[in-house]
Amino acid sequence: MLIEQLKDIVGPKGWTTDPDDLEPRLTDWRGAVHGATPIVISPANTAEVAAVIRTCADANVAIVPQGGNTGMCAGAVPDASGTQVILSLARMNAIRSVDAVNFSMEVEAGCILENIQNAATAVDRHFALSLSAEGSCQIGGNLSTNAGGINVVRYGTARAQVLGLEAVMADGTIVSSLRSLRKDTAGYDLKQLFIGSEGTLGIITAATLKLNPLPGVISTALVAIESPGDAVGLLAYLRTELADAIEAFELVSSYVFGLVAKHIPDSALPFDQQAPWYALLDVAIGGDEERLESALMGAAEEGLLSDAVIAKNSAEADRLWRMRHSIAEAERSERKAQKHDVSVPLSRMEEFLQRGESLLSDLVPDAQLVAFGHVGDGNLHYNVALPDGSEDGARVTRALYDLVDELGGSFSAEHGVGFLKRQYLPIYRNEGEIALMRTLKRALDPKNILNPGKVI
Ligand code: FAD
Ligand code: MLT
Ligand code: ZN
Repeated sequence: MLIEQLKDIVGPKGWTTDPDDLEPRLTDWRGAVHGATPIVISPANTAEVAAVIRTCADANVAIVPQGGNTGMCAGAVPDASGTQVILSLARMNAIRSVDAVNFSMEVEAGCILENIQNAATAVDRHFALSLSAEGSCQIGGNLSTNAGGINVVRYGTARAQVLGLEAVMADGTIVSSLRSLRKDTAGYDLKQLFIGSEGTLGIITAATLKLNPLPGVISTALVAIESPGDAVGLLAYLRTELADAIEAFELVSSYVFGLVAKHIPDSALPFDQQAPWYALLDVAIGGDEERLESALMGAAEEGLLSDAVIAKNSAEADRLWRMRHSIAEAERSERKAQKHDVSVPLSRMEEFLQRGESLLSDLVPDAQLVAFGHVGDGNLHYNVALPDGSEDGARVTRALYDLVDELGGSFSAEHGVGFLKRQYLPIYRNEGEIALMRTLKRALDPKNILNPGKVI
């Protein structure tokens, strides 16, 4: 009965029950969780989303919103009950308008991130969010997880790219705040409720995004580094020398680039000698490579780096970035590691890495650290590959999260909480925070039909 009602709302192009179509939507990107669903519903517009939600609410049936299903915490996958309906935003992929004068654009939630970037570039504007999954993740998913990526050091996370939002509440009410203003203090900032709440408080259907001027010619450098502490020092040094020209500053361990070389063709490092760590950076200094070279030489004199190459052209830069963007894929092709997407204040990064290393060697001496990430934001993917058959995973994770917490950090920097990390939220958020989160959830979704079992 419910299924027939849902089919009627979205019409023949808006649903599938074909097992071949369902299958890729039932497992998360990393293959950690497998769920079940009776149907995938793909509305064509916001009114259809609202009707779908009203109908599910009447029947007390849960809805799992799904974007590109590239999330790292299995937040977009239904549970195993076979009762939860997947709501895909894929058909809502229109760029509604681009306002070059106002540096803004209005897009539907199912727009692929890369298409948004390209639409901005087409009018000489820059949309700043960028991450390795940009060819398949959707802006609705990016906003729901408050995604980070490689340019946060300059432009902030997904949240900082949003001027306005449209969302559908758990009772089917449409809340439209699609204003394109930089300044607006009229009442509560409602869009923030939906950004970063991973589909548990409402379904994002559209957004007004902030655009920036094009950054101009970008220079890319790969720098060999002895220790992560030197990377933090190098970042501070370059920030002093180049002010806010740093667009990206990523740290990658030698082991991780080794995984990329093993699994991804044409990805050897451009150095004769291996270093323990590498920083990959983009700077927007109008192609003034002498300035970058002199900054890097200054840093070398301070002992902050041992070698560096500046990409000679965009093909070389693209090759270096392709290696960085292939890490998640390479890691997935190797044995699975315990993921720890953590952040600490930059001033505690070195201490975190030193104490993390000794903690790991005490707990599981045979573990392999798989560390890389957005060190410019104090965010590392501090993943740990355990020996086959090891049962120490939960213990390692807990000990690392305790350390992160002690240093004033977060157990979830950019991937969200989803299903896989929800047990940690009550441990690392205080009672007052958890109580308010529960109050919000109960108030906005009293029947608990929006992505239940995720986040909280
Ligand atoms: P999904 O995976 O489909 O969904 C993610 C969550 O959002 C789920 O809880 C889902 O229910 C909810 N959701 C989806 N759409 C909506 C909507 N319209 N309304 C309400 N809720 C919704 N993340 C980073 O932050 N930084 C990175 O650098 C990064 N790199 C990545 C690299 C790779 C190769 C991969 C596979 C993933 C990476 N991620 C990264 C993970 C990441 O969170 C995303 O790729 C992206 O933000 C998720 O978008 P998605 O459309 O795939 O969302
Ligand atoms: C990345 O920075 O590449 C991503 O967040 C993906 C990952 O952590 O594997
Ligand atoms: Zn990341």
